[in-house]
Formats: sequence, C-alpha cells, structure tokens
Amino acid sequence: MTTQVISELSGAVDAPWDSVVALRAGGVSLILGLPDDALPFVIHWGADAGALDAKELRELATHALPPLATNGVDSSVVASVLPENSRGWTGTTGLAGHRSGKAWSTRFVPVAVEVAEQDGQGGSVAVRAIDVDADLTLDLSIALLPSGLARLSAALTNTGESTYTLDGLQLALPVPTRADVLFDLAGRWGKEKVPQWREFTVGTHLREGRHGRTGADAATILTAGTADLDFGQGEAWGLHVAFSGNHRTLAERAFSGERLLLGGELLLPGEIQLGPGEGYATPDVFAAYGAGLDDVAARFHSYLRARPGHPRTVRPVVMNVWEAVYFDHDLTRLLELADAAQRVGVERFVLDDGWFGSRRDDTSGLGDWIIAEDVWGGGRFRALVDGVKQRGMQFGLWFEPEMVNVASELAASHPEWLLQVPGRLPIEFRHQQVLDLSHPGAFAHVERQIVSLVREYGIDYIKWDHNRDLMDAGSTRTGRAGVHEQTLATYRLLDAIRAACPGLEIESCSSGGARVDLEILNHTDRVWASDCIDARERQQIQRWTAQLLPPELVGSHVGAERAHTTRRQFDLDFRAATALFGHFGIEWDLTAASPEDLARLAEWVDYYKAVRSLIHTGTIIRRTLESGDLWLHGSVSPDRGRALYALTLRERHVTWPAGRVQLPGLNPLAQYRVTVAGPGADAPYDPRVHPSWYRTGTVLAGSALSEVGLHIPALDPDTTVLLDVEALA
Ligand code: GLA
Repeated sequence: MTTQVISELSGAVDAPWDSVVALRAGGVSLILGLPDDALPFVIHWGADAGALDAKELRELATHALPPLATNGVDSSVVASVLPENSRGWTGTTGLAGHRSGKAWSTRFVPVAVEVAEQDGQGGSVAVRAIDVDADLTLDLSIALLPSGLARLSAALTNTGESTYTLDGLQLALPVPTRADVLFDLAGRWGKEKVPQWREFTVGTHLREGRHGRTGADAATILTAGTADLDFGQGEAWGLHVAFSGNHRTLAERAFSGERLLLGGELLLPGEIQLGPGEGYATPDVFAAYGAGLDDVAARFHSYLRARPGHPRTVRPVVMNVWEAVYFDHDLTRLLELADAAQRVGVERFVLDDGWFGSRRDDTSGLGDWIIAEDVWGGGRFRALVDGVKQRGMQFGLWFEPEMVNVASELAASHPEWLLQVPGRLPIEFRHQQVLDLSHPGAFAHVERQIVSLVREYGIDYIKWDHNRDLMDAGSTRTGRAGVHEQTLATYRLLDAIRAACPGLEIESCSSGGARVDLEILNHTDRVWASDCIDARERQQIQRWTAQLLPPELVGSHVGAERAHTTRRQFDLDFRAATALFGHFGIEWDLTAASPEDLARLAEWVDYYKAVRSLIHTGTIIRRTLESGDLWLHGSVSPDRGRALYALTLRERHVTWPAGRVQLPGLNPLAQYRVTVAGPGADAPYDPRVHPSWYRTGTVLAGSALSEVGLHIPALDPDTTVLLDVEALA
C-alpha cells in the first residue's frame, strides 16, 4: 500500500498540482480528477480501464474537462462528487444550507489531499476543502473497496461564529450516457422489494424515505443501467444510502447530457443546526458497478462477507413462535412447541411479542421490558428458557426497544421521553409511540432493562423490532425534528447492548423488512425480510432482498400450509425449498402439523444443514426464463467446485416443456455430476414428467452445462426442483 499526501495547502488558491487518481479493484475502475481549485470529480466509474501509467494519467488529466456548451457557462462545467452551483452546475447541488439566509452557495477549494492506493485492491482518496467565505470545512472520503464497491462519505464542519443550518448533504456519481434505464425497488408491508423499471429521461427520479426508518418501500439500490440490463447481462451502476432513518436517492439527467446518481440523508426542517465548531457526518453511500445485476449483488455480498463482524458460525435453524401462538402465551403449549422443534432439528427457539408487562395484545405494555407476572411469573419464564436450552436449542426473545404504548408504565412515568411536537402526541400507529433514545435517561433505561434480562436468562438472540413510522418525531429535549438523532441513538443502543452481552446475536426486524440497509447490518446480524411468509411472495421478496444482502443475513421461514398473510396454500416441499435459500427457520404451529409433515420437515432441516455452508458462501445466480414464468436461482461455491440451483415455476407457461435450461457460473473446464437434490428428489421416475437423466444423474463439462444446458422436469406452478452440481474430483 502506498500512501501519498499529495498536498497540504494553505489557502490553496494557487496550488501547483492538478492530478488524476485511478483506483482499481475486482474488475472495477474508479478514476478521479483532483483539480487544485475545485472538488474531485469522477472521470470514470465502471469496468476496469486497465493499469494506467503516469503518461496516460497525465493525458487524462489534461483532457478531463468537457468542451464549453453553446450559450452556456464560459468555462467547462463538470459535476463534482459534491456538485456546486457556483461551478456552473444547474442540477441538484450536493450541499444545501445557510446562515440565516446567507452563505447559501458554496465554492469549496481543496487544502489537503491524501491518496492511499493498494495495487489492484482499490484504495482511497481523502480531500479536505474549505470555503473561507461560507466558513465551512468539508472532508470528503472516497474509497474503492476490494469487492469493487465504492464507498463515499463526507463531513461538514462549521468554522464560523454563527449557526449554520444544514438542509441536506448528498454525494454524486456520474453514469455514462448509455445508462438508459433506471431500476429500483418499491414495496409495502408484507410485500417488500418489488422491482420497478423506467426510462432514464431528462429530469429527476427522486426516491425519498420519510418513514424515520429504512422503509418497506425503500429504493434500496437506485440503479442506472444499459437497456439490456438483466441478472446476467448489461451494465449497472447502483447507489445505496446506508442509513436507517430518512434518506433520499435520486437519478438526474441534465439537459446538458450528464447523468448522475445522488444519495444522502433526508433532513427535516431545521433538524441539523451546526453551532460554531460543530460538524455533521453523512451516512456511507455505496456505489456498485456490475456487468449485470448478479454482479452488482455479488459485490455487495463479498463486501459484507469480508467484514470482521460478519457471522462466522453456521446459521442455526430457527423456530419463531409468532405465527404459531401470536399473543396467546402459555408455558405448557410453548414447551410442546419446543418439543416439536427439537424433534425436527431446530437449533434456536425464539419467543416473540407478548411476554412482557401488560402486553396481552398490541394495545399496551410496549416499553416495559419486564417479565409479565400474570403469564410468565412464578418461575414459568425461567422454566421455558431452561426447557428450550435443555432441548439443545438457543433461546431468542423479541423486543421493540425504540417503541412504547401510551398504555404502559414507561409512558406513564416518563411522558417527556416520547418523540413529539411540543403539546401534541404523534398520530397513533399500531397503538404505539416512539421513545426518544437521544434522551440519555430513556437510553439508559432501555439499555439497563434489556441487558439485565439477557444476562439473567442467558438470552442468545434478540429479534429487534420497529413497528411504526416516525411522524411528528420531535425531541422534547431540543424542540427540533428528531429522526437523525434517533437513528444514531438506535445504532449506539445496539452497540452498547452487544458490547455488554458478548455472543448475543440481533435480528433487524421492522414490520417485516422495513429496516434493510447496510448500516443497520453494522449493528445487527440478520434481517427479517418480510412478515409475509407465503412462499410464492417470498420467492420474489428474497430474490430482490438478495440484490443487497447475501442469504445468510436474510431470515427465511417455513410457514403453515395456508399462509397467514395471503390465505394461499402451498405444499411443504415448495415452502421449504423457498426458505432454503436464506437463514432457514420455521414459523408454524408444529403441534398442529401431521406426522407426515413433521417427518418431511425434519428431512428439509437435515438438508438445509447439509447445504447451508454452500448457500451461505456461494456466488448468487438468478435468471428469469420463459417470459418470467420460470425462475432460476443458484449458489455457486467460490472455487466453483459445487453449486445448487433451484428452478421454480411461477406460472404455467404458454408453451411447455421449457427448452434446455442453462446453468451459469460454473468452471467451463471442470466436469460436473448433476443430480436432482433435496427431499423433493424422491419422486418416482415418470417419463412424462422427468427428463431421461433424472434417474441416474448426468456428467457434463461446466461449459456444456452453461452453454447447452439440460432438459428439466415438468413442473407444476409453485413448485421448485433443486439441482446439485458437483465437480468430479
Ligand atoms: C412485527 C413483526 C412480526 C412480529 C410482530 C409482533 O409485525 O414483523 O414478525 O414480531 O411484530 O408484534
């Protein structure tokens, strides 16, 4: 690694340098122009442009700027990483703010630049810039990580003597003019991660999250792509704002030809007031380039898997009791469930909502994190925890630490701890309000209650829920909008509890999948993707949650035969094959399941245990076949020695059988044995249903499997067939 302080300038106005830095990692190049008198700008973000020598870098620096526009600004206009109006940029600016109406337009000049390059493994550029008139200092950090992801952030410091009101700080990256389409996600409760596509027309496509949480409708990764973009083809440039509060991501195509992606936190009116010497730091903004959507997803996955805090132990089979008992808690019944869970091979048993305070339904008790005397008193809670542990399972417990029912002891004793606009409680949402965690007393209270329970009962896992939007979310301490502070306080609370309880794992749940972002995953160990565990819906939700997260971070449960959210009915094999490609669990009243179902479920649990190390380290493969009626999902081991593919029929196709299906991602030179796998492989051979290789398997080169492909069994809608593909030794 070479670290180079290119310049330490004072005043900077006539600095003798003007340079280009080219970072490369994982098949991606990020080439930055570093002018001596303006903020850095991106010359290229995309496919690897090769190793450029000093002469080529000089050439790029010399010719970095576009020609002048007719009837335009009399110098070249280029949008920097923080686009500024003072430089001739008439699109959305990176910074918005003022000092009582003054200092509203900035012109930052760099005073120090630090470049750290790791040969072929990325690197970083840090730029400090000042605006002496606005009295602001900006610290920009731009890194290309080994995964090929770029990570950008900024910090702004008020060096003046008056208050600076910050209205927004967002960072920008350009995409090439061939990026003609936009792709992002939408959704709602129980139907998260719905893809949407549009043309990248002139103007702004703005996605705002104003829920005070990441949101079920979050854009997740706002992506610009070439018109042929799909899982395995085309080019994609995507931006993800790693923040669990309000945020905005936008794609802007200027009349002058530039196409930009911008992202940052969404600040409420007056939310950030920087006093003299005070600063604000943006969330991390991640930028992913990929040759196809699978390539983008794989970059996020490899970035996450390389983190020191990524789960390193096998992901245990979970039993969550929510859809089995809801609020109907009873020791005997829950121990029966624990018995059934143990018999099918469950490794972690999670007691959901309803165990604390007066919480017998969702109208009261939230915020009182003490064992409910009437239901769980007299040693009954201890008996459940011990019973679960004696059956060889970990014990997990549900909390919703940021929330409070007005009908609770906590709200009665500390009404000033509820986020609100002074004199008016926010509109009710699932009968609950939000606890102001930026209040030191509230923070310490919740931390104490949770830590003492975790320690007393040896709790292994917390399902950390967050079930309402933050509306009218003002702090009674400051009188100001409080979403920013609340979000940071939540991260601090998660960290404090994890530090106090080593080994504790935490799930991020928010009415299902409304808090799925990369920052919450710096403080938690998995997400709950959706409250909808209808397998058909889950295929879709997991397919697109995977655009950001690898399967080991995504809770995925087998539900009852008739899905509670949609009333649709599915076979157990389909429900289990769907849950397989995640962190597998069960959320089903097993005491009501038939002996045949229990036996079959146990087979699936065994199968998950046998393949989880492959699925949880593999490279993702997704394809949409037969006009969207047939989906391929696969996981290929990093050395390409083994792969597992799932083929799922979504709808009956207008023609059938499907032609040959190709299996991408394999080593073209290796020989592989392909067999039908999983408990569903026991169907007797039937020539009207199964291809001839079904009985014995087949051996073919990776090149033949990925180019020629195989005939597949006839499938009914909402069924999955699994193909195990293993390289011959
Ligand atoms: C939310 C969660 C569910 C369940 C309930 C409990 O809706 O997403 O999984 O925990 O809360 O009230």
